[in-house]
Amino acid sequence: MTEAELYTLYKGVYMLSSLHPPDHLKYYEEFCFRPDDIIIATYPKSGTTWMQEIVPLVMSGGDPASVETLPNWQRVPWLEVQSAELILEQMPSPRMFATHYQYNMMPTSFSEVKPKVIYVMRNPKDVFTSAFHYYGMASFTVPPGPQSDFLHKFLDGKVMFGSWFDHVKSWLNAEDKEHIMYISYEEMKMDLKDSVSRISQFLEKSLDTEVVGKIANRCLFKNMKKNSMSNYSSVPREIMDQTKSEFLRKGIVGDWKNQLSAAEAEYFNAVYKDKMKDVKYKFVWD
Ligand code: A3P
Repeated sequence: MTEAELYTLYKGVYMLSSLHPPDHLKYYEEFCFRPDDIIIATYPKSGTTWMQEIVPLVMSGGDPASVETLPNWQRVPWLEVQSAELILEQMPSPRMFATHYQYNMMPTSFSEVKPKVIYVMRNPKDVFTSAFHYYGMASFTVPPGPQSDFLHKFLDGKVMFGSWFDHVKSWLNAEDKEHIMYISYEEMKMDLKDSVSRISQFLEKSLDTEVVGKIANRCLFKNMKKNSMSNYSSVPREIMDQTKSEFLRKGIVGDWKNQLSAAEAEYFNAVYKDKMKDVKYKFVWD
């Protein structure tokens, strides 16, 4: 299947025609946010599912009921994905949502209401590595083809939700940064307890140390991998073939070293240097 068959161009970026049909994108354009909504914003493969585990646990004060009974896409639904099961307007506050939109794609109500956003970033070489495997197992995406071809597509933004560079820069340049928390996958790997604690402070949910520790433990890769509500095991194989690559695949920092050749890494670095030259933010991977 090709880009023309599986993707739709929306505001200059590729969206998945099957999951993000035009009438639903129109609905998202007109969506009304509430001030106490919580948005997890990410470029795909940066730690969305991880955050869909952490935030509900923080908000429930550590009660695991929702992460044990609801699949991640129901407890923290993607705003751009059409869902047959959920009516977002009927969800009780505080609602939790995920989005892969770039900042400049967010609807008018978002800039007016300014709900809290947690923006998760990850080393783009690891995002690329994770995406390469994901595009090979999810039937709604265009198969990656040879790695060198996929590398060019990724660096040129000819993949779903567009360019990693545009995405990260758009959120880093957001107008009202005080309602946005920036955190990286790498920081979460380095110290999950500290990350959970920072997230709970940002969400104004006070948690004692023991609860923070319990949440962090639940959200360890090895434990989340066993949670059938978070590991996509209920998705039919025709849609996600986890015999090709598991959704919770490796969960490590630096897997790009096993994926990219020296020449590919060098090329990646050169593109990165050029595209990120005006960015002042200090990334942990730089
Ligand atoms: P890998 O493919 O490198 O393993 P997203 O949810 O945004 O699509 O991101 C998926 C990536 O996050 C995958 O990366 C997945 O394994 C990783 N991930 C999910 N839960 C994690 C956790 N608890 N700890 C570490 N990595 C996690």
